Amino acid sequence: MKTWILNGSPRKMGNTSYLVEELVRKLDGESKIVFAYDSAASACIDCRYCWKNDGCSIDDAMQEIYKDIEESDHIVLASPMQFMGLSAPLLCVASRFQRYYAARKFRNIEPFVVPKKGALILTGGGDGGTKHAVAVARLILKEVGADLLASAMSLGTDTLSSREDTKALEEIAAMAKILNRA
Ligand SMILES: Cc1cc2nc3c(=O)[nH]c(=O)nc-3n(C[C@H](O)[C@H](O)[C@H](O)COP(=O)(O)O)c2cc1C
Repeated sequence: MKTWILNGSPRKMGNTSYLVEELVRKLDGESKIVFAYDSAASACIDCRYCWKNDGCSIDDAMQEIYKDIEESDHIVLASPMQFMGLSAPLLCVASRFQRYYAARKFRNIEPFVVPKKGALILTGGGDGGTKHAVAVARLILKEVGADLLASAMSLGTDTLSSREDTKALEEIAAMAKILNRA
């Protein structure tokens, strides 16, 4: 069982990272966390190479990410809310999933024959709703062949850190159970 996690927080000891670590502690199998803020993957430039060809024309850190995603059973997106959405560096990495969209749309190829399980971790200080972020996360997960099956949210971190947010921690435990289920 392999889980690939994209952490969109700039803070390695922050709220999002805490919930990610909690999840990893509870997950069976192997987990790999990519910090979007550290990733050398550049944004999709819409060159449209993938409209006609398998893969991506940009040869950078994303090549390893593609391999990891393709080998993973679960994909988890984790992000602090920023302007009611997912963080910009997370979206930068996710923009490179365009190759999978293009495979389906223009070449009639389903890149992921076996569906993956998808999950979402969101933290926020408390401003605005999560509807937009959840819809975008669902779309990104769909691109990598994953259905959003579980989410955990800690949405008052200006006053209650995720470490103390018992509801969010319960949601992480429930998420692990869903992902660990065969
Ligand atoms: C640029 C920026 C934009 C933010 N926008 C939102 C927002 O729209 N809604 C919200 O609830 N919190 C917002 N926040 C607060 C963060 O989501 C919150 O502090 C989060 O828990 C930080 O997570 P971290 O500790 O993992 O980095 C914003 C923070 C920053 C820095």
